[in-house]
Amino acid sequence: MTDPDVLDRAKEMAGKDDFPLIGFSHLEWWVGNAYQTAQFLRSHLGFAIVGYRGPETGTRETASYMLQQGDIRFIVTGAMGPEHPVSDHVRRHGPGVKDVAIAVPDATGAFEVAIERGAEAAVEPHVLEDDHGRAVISAVQAYGDTIHSFVQLEGDMPGFERKEDSIAVSTGLEFIDHVVANVELGKMNHWVEWYERVFGFTLLKHFDDDAISTKYTALMSKVMWDGTGIFKLPINEPAEGLKKSQIDEYLQFYGGPGVQHIAMHTQDLLTTVAHALARGLRTLAVPDSYYNDVWRRMPDIDVDRSRVEELQVLLDRDEDGYLLQIFSQMLQDRPTVFFEFIERRGATGFGKGNFKALFEAIELEQEKRGNL
Ligand code: FE2
Repeated sequence: MTDPDVLDRAKEMAGKDDFPLIGFSHLEWWVGNAYQTAQFLRSHLGFAIVGYRGPETGTRETASYMLQQGDIRFIVTGAMGPEHPVSDHVRRHGPGVKDVAIAVPDATGAFEVAIERGAEAAVEPHVLEDDHGRAVISAVQAYGDTIHSFVQLEGDMPGFERKEDSIAVSTGLEFIDHVVANVELGKMNHWVEWYERVFGFTLLKHFDDDAISTKYTALMSKVMWDGTGIFKLPINEPAEGLKKSQIDEYLQFYGGPGVQHIAMHTQDLLTTVAHALARGLRTLAVPDSYYNDVWRRMPDIDVDRSRVEELQVLLDRDEDGYLLQIFSQMLQDRPTVFFEFIERRGATGFGKGNFKALFEAIELEQEKRGNL
């Protein structure tokens, strides 16, 4: 974030906030088996199951679990029968993120402004209410079948029976750092323009395709943000390479654009990762040569080097500081969605220095799947 123009634009924008957004409300996953997905998020990552909505609570067609860790909230939903839209979504996409939901002070106003600015309606504003709270919810279409709900909440999310979770043990995940979209070739700028026009976001950083490419594959990525850092939404599109890029692989197996990865912040990445690995999470291995290069690039960095290498954590620095990050392997059978865990020690970037090493690691996995 050293470009003074970017900072000025952000300050200017924050001052004339005519589309107020509070933060991420939750991410809703549409899956084949909500019960098991919830168990995975609990056992491997320490999310607490805090709510349930399903046939037992009067919702006949779906079952949903609400999970919480720090400020991160997931809802996972499965369908009771083949005709439900969740079943159709899962058939086409596999398990995936349906809704990147945003907390707003006024869900009706946000909806009306978004529609006026050219967004496509997904859900008209409506009210949900129970003993726990009251929510006005609306939604607009984003990339592919993904939607952005606007959630205006008083109290806690209505519609869920409350659960006490005495099993979940937190891994230290605190908040969503960024949510990444993969879109089709030639569509990145369309969505950049969409987030500018509809949400008033601006471009944070731009990587051109030779900045992130390996011998075989390449991608282009632009990061849209709200000017404060609460929302950072990178958008990737495939770029021409010698072989099929990881973005092409995603688009093929997801059946179109969608959420590629969700990065969650922790204050202590090494502890978070050690916990998650001990509980069975699979992370992406890095090439052997990676650490020689890292310690040469960042000789003065204050980390436990042997632990970093043992846990296969990635490191990068930018003008503002450095960061530690690690990527999970795919969370489902299809090579589509994965998690990132990130600890920022000042750095505001996304691990650009790791992209090459990361791509090589991803390509190794792609090759194993026969998709390179
Ligand atoms: Fe990321």
